Amino acid sequence: MLQIISAALCTFFGFRNNPLADIPYASCFPTLGLLSEKWSHDFYSTSMRALFNAAAEEGISWTLIGGVPLVYLRHPALIRQVFVKNAESISRCGTQTRGPFGTGKRIIRSALITADGDVARHWHADMTRGFHNRPAMERFHWKLISIATNHVQKLRDIGMGDNLQSLLQDYAMDAVWCLGLGLENASQCTREWQEPFAQYVQMAASMSYPLHHTMMNLMCGRDFEEPDYYENDLHERIENCVLQLLEANSDLLNPEAVETLEQMNFLQRISHETGGSAAQPITPDVLAHARQIFSHGFPAPTLLLLWALRELTLYPEVKQKLRTELQESDWHHRQELQLLSKLPYLNAVVNELLRLHPPIPTTARAIDRPLNMQTQSGASLVIPVQARVAVSLAMLHQDPYVWGEDASQFRPERWDGLLPNTIEGECNYVHVARLSGTKCSNILTDESIQNMDDGMFSARDELVMDKQTSWN
Ligand code: HEM
Repeated sequence: MLQIISAALCTFFGFRNNPLADIPYASCFPTLGLLSEKWSHDFYSTSMRALFNAAAEEGISWTLIGGVPLVYLRHPALIRQVFVKNAESISRCGTQTRGPFGTGKRIIRSALITADGDVARHWHADMTRGFHNRPAMERFHWKLISIATNHVQKLRDIGMGDNLQSLLQDYAMDAVWCLGLGLENASQCTREWQEPFAQYVQMAASMSYPLHHTMMNLMCGRDFEEPDYYENDLHERIENCVLQLLEANSDLLNPEAVETLEQMNFLQRISHETGGSAAQPITPDVLAHARQIFSHGFPAPTLLLLWALRELTLYPEVKQKLRTELQESDWHHRQELQLLSKLPYLNAVVNELLRLHPPIPTTARAIDRPLNMQTQSGASLVIPVQARVAVSLAMLHQDPYVWGEDASQFRPERWDGLLPNTIEGECNYVHVARLSGTKCSNILTDESIQNMDDGMFSARDELVMDKQTSWN
């Protein structure tokens, strides 16, 4: 019956000679793309669960959402086929601005998350260099320690109560802007961000908003792709917030203030490399990166900190084991960055947190050229360019097939003897932006996976950096 409906829908939407007809179809709520489950939790999780279940045998399933075929990948080997082996054939946004990224793109405008092709590749490399490697961490290590100490002290003084989320958000905000701009107290300067940020998230994740947008633009005789009144207004407000922060800290941004690249913070270096000067440090690239930090820099770390506190409260024996590991290490005498990678239980706890509670729980890609793949039973299939592919990281990380019967339990001990990079290379575990999907074969290919070593920092390490003093 479902196959008949899907065939009818395919014909109706002009998706003829359906190349997906041989893989299991799941009927889903028309959630207008992969929107945040926060605002459409029931629709969203029911649809994801239906796709996940339908993919049990073949490792793959599909549905139609608003006329767009959505291919769901469940089995790690299939995720690998698409994201690793065919990294050149997929991209984050594709050419369409109508999909789930459309609203964000019209509000935030140019930022990495809304970019594609060479620009995205370039900005991705910038971000990796600025946030995701050892030298960047080393440069700000002591500032990050002082930020962590202050925030833990604040938690102790104020207590947690209802303020917990905002206290942890301040902590995440300070840490991310410390890496971004060398600022230590960004949370003090960004109080007025809360309202535009909340509005941005609400609009970008709303199921009904695209309809409002379509109606508004229709009435004004504008193309769908053009921002509407509300989007323009919000864009202005966000832009002002970001500009105010940058202008108030122009001394930190000034590319002429220090002599060597090594001494520069992330945005200062971008300014230096893109023609910024003491008089005019804010270049278009600096602004694009600052917008990116505004829109995606602090929610994920905040969520993860919340989950960390929850799990450590629920599992006091884990907390105790962590304390013992820290006390037995040299950490109290020399709080050096290097030491953090030598605390195996701390790493296991962070891996387990990212496994069970991935703050970005789903990912999707556009298909840029027809993509050949094989299902679990060995059947061949071509994913057409109209399609999108999706993976639920949250479900992958809790799939008993991949992680065993206790997959849904918080058990850091499962990481004993496991190498996160290998697990990630096999696509059993995806915790950070390595699946860049910007046609970057250099980001997640067999070669890049082999080249990942201890010198490569991951979000895992950043998080450890941020949290370490809370376990003292
Ligand atoms: C606990 C911390 C974090 C986690 C677990 C996390 C996780 C992720 C994941 C899984 C993705 C990939 C989504 C996808 O490919 O569809 C992603 C993308 C991204 N994240 Fe994060 N993130 C974290 C913190 C941050 C921070 C602090 C920043 C910025 C300052 C950031 C900026 C980005 C950007 C720019 C992308 C898009 C990358 C691209 O398109 O190439 N993230 N993140």
